[in-house]
Amino acid sequence: MGTKVTPYESSQANKKDQVRTMFDKIAPVYDLLNGVLSLNTDTRWRRKAISKLKDKNPKTMLDIATGTGDVAVEANKQLDLDSIIALDLSPNMIELAKKKMNKKGLEHIIFPEVGDSENLRFEDQSFDAVTVSFGVRNFGNLKQGLSEIYRVINPNGSLVVLEFSKPTIFPFKQIFNFYFKNILPFIGKLTSKDPAAYKYLYESVQVFPDYDDFAIILKEIGFKQVTWKPLTLGICTIYFAQK
Ligand SMILES: C[S@@+](CC[C@H](N)C(=O)[O-])C[C@H]1O[C@@H](n2cnc3c(N)ncnc32)[C@H](O)[C@@H]1O
Repeated sequence: MGTKVTPYESSQANKKDQVRTMFDKIAPVYDLLNGVLSLNTDTRWRRKAISKLKDKNPKTMLDIATGTGDVAVEANKQLDLDSIIALDLSPNMIELAKKKMNKKGLEHIIFPEVGDSENLRFEDQSFDAVTVSFGVRNFGNLKQGLSEIYRVINPNGSLVVLEFSKPTIFPFKQIFNFYFKNILPFIGKLTSKDPAAYKYLYESVQVFPDYDDFAIILKEIGFKQVTWKPLTLGICTIYFAQK
């Protein structure tokens, strides 16, 4: 795994605390900026990720790093779930997720709560499926977070991870890299009130293991039948695995 990148270079706080602070700060504009900066492709990425679970027919699901809860909402649309716990480190994100579920009348099926992937309150084998969308890259300790996820999944249960990856195809790689490194942080700086956040986004993706490197880590944790599918020429990738 690459060097540890944190949001605030000069801060003495550990990565997890910095990540919590950063997402608390950008929470009010998170949904809006996601849509604008990805030209609404993010919705399609989440839809594709959830569709991987359709033939598994999960009844209980945990959405880790839920943010404002969009993956949980999409899962409820596509799957026949009894309940979804939507968990996030950032209290401000969870407040917004709760408001979203109330507004959509989903508070009886989607339950947002503050929590840390590296220290889950659930018993072993509690969920048929776990999802993490654009979350694993932010974990303070990736292997600890993934081991906790493994612990709470039922035998034969599924894991779906959606995460940024690095495009490899010329010339898309070079064009996207310019946008991701220069233009996106500039827009993020003007709009999110946290200049560090979108610089961190670029830097954290550069050091995060993608494709087979991430698949190897999942296998080391114990996951089986690990597969992955790059989306939009490799901007992000869906990883699918079984316990
Ligand atoms: C980029 S957002 C993704 C939100 C949402 N899943 C989506 O698809 O838009 C990453 C989220 O991960 C959360 N996060 C980071 N580390 C976490 C951890 N250890 N446990 C739970 N959530 C975490 C952050 O608070 C943040 O809300």
